Amino acid sequence: MPGRLSSPDVAVHRNDLLRRYQAVRAHSLALAQPLSAEDQCIQSMPDASPTKWHLAHTSWFFEAVVLAAHVPGWRPYDRRFFHLFNSYYESLGPRHPRPQRGLLTRPSLDEVLAYRSHVDEAMQALLAGDGPADAAASLVELGLQHEQQHQELILTDILHAFSCNPLLPAYRRPEPPVLRLAGSGPAPQWLALPGGVVEVGHAGPGFAFDSETPRHAVLLRPFQIASRLVTCGEYAEFIADGGYRRASLWLSDGWAAVQAQGWRAPAYWLAPGDPRAPAEDWQVFGLHGVQPLDASAPVSQLSLYEAAAYAEWAGARLPTEFEWEAASVQPGLDQATGHVWQWTRSSYDPYPGFRPLSGAVGEYNGKFMVGQVVLRGGSLATPPGHTRPSYRNFFPPAARWQFSGLRLAKDAE
Ligand code: AVJ
Ligand code: FE
Repeated sequence: MPGRLSSPDVAVHRNDLLRRYQAVRAHSLALAQPLSAEDQCIQSMPDASPTKWHLAHTSWFFEAVVLAAHVPGWRPYDRRFFHLFNSYYESLGPRHPRPQRGLLTRPSLDEVLAYRSHVDEAMQALLAGDGPADAAASLVELGLQHEQQHQELILTDILHAFSCNPLLPAYRRPEPPVLRLAGSGPAPQWLALPGGVVEVGHAGPGFAFDSETPRHAVLLRPFQIASRLVTCGEYAEFIADGGYRRASLWLSDGWAAVQAQGWRAPAYWLAPGDPRAPAEDWQVFGLHGVQPLDASAPVSQLSLYEAAAYAEWAGARLPTEFEWEAASVQPGLDQATGHVWQWTRSSYDPYPGFRPLSGAVGEYNGKFMVGQVVLRGGSLATPPGHTRPSYRNFFPPAARWQFSGLRLAKDAE
């Protein structure tokens, strides 16, 4: 049958997809496991969603995008869920307002978990047997990648919620699995790159979002990039040197945010003597609760504005997303991924020749391509294997609730 998965190779691939489906879905539940039902219901700000909503919305995505379109005679699990758990897909109908997701005490967590199980049974039936047609299989893959994006958001959103609680609860107790730099951070090496015409974007094989394509050539001037990320110790020097008081270091919108929000340090840093966890030195709140500032750990929870001000103070700048991508394959570039997302100086724009996916999933990325800045790399909250050198994460420049830091760049000497 055309478009049907039928050759022996494809049977293996089909099995992989089923196993991956089960593993990814189970991981979301594992992330929610340390959280109480109360924890899973709250929304601490309009940009962050409750854990329960993430668990439901990722199921809704499979129901609305895969099952409803590819299972003949599919009957919606509950029509009201199409309204509650549609995030932003205009073509799939009206939806519950984003800032009010935290008001959804009903459906209960148990009801959301039952919804997940229902979707899982139908998805596993689709993935077993003859398997889905190619078109459905690529939507399943998109659904898994989508769920992995929400897995990171489950962590960043609950961390924000916990940061609003004076008890500053820990999400998990054991020591963080942070790869520490040797000592308190030797000066970074500057790696020199020749620039010239380089190819960027997804080259395949394997999955990529539409926003990573088409692969195309860009022209880079010769530049240098730091071998490692900026550390908390270095960032503390910027603070001590009046970084948050010197308008000359800041972009105008950034300086306005410093004034309006009263920013004095990265989000989740506790100044010496903070009544929530009084200590003589800086402390940092994270998934493991409040810990003494680790001078050699990569600085995190920065807005683009703070990253750019730090770079200015350090006599450097942020890399463009294309410099970052060209450098990411260089030997000697430490911590390319796995610690914090790295702000770039590139706005999230369509690549030349960009075409969104067709159908409702055409709304996935393309319509957000204004007013957002690209981050590259990946963080400790990114599911393993989810990111790649061409991956383009994006957030508005004032966002601070992600695991976002920076790496410095500068023009060639
Ligand atoms: C890429 C993290 C900015 O948060 O909206 C989730 C990920 N896309 N569902 C977002 C996403 C669709 C996206 N970010
Ligand atoms: Fe989503």
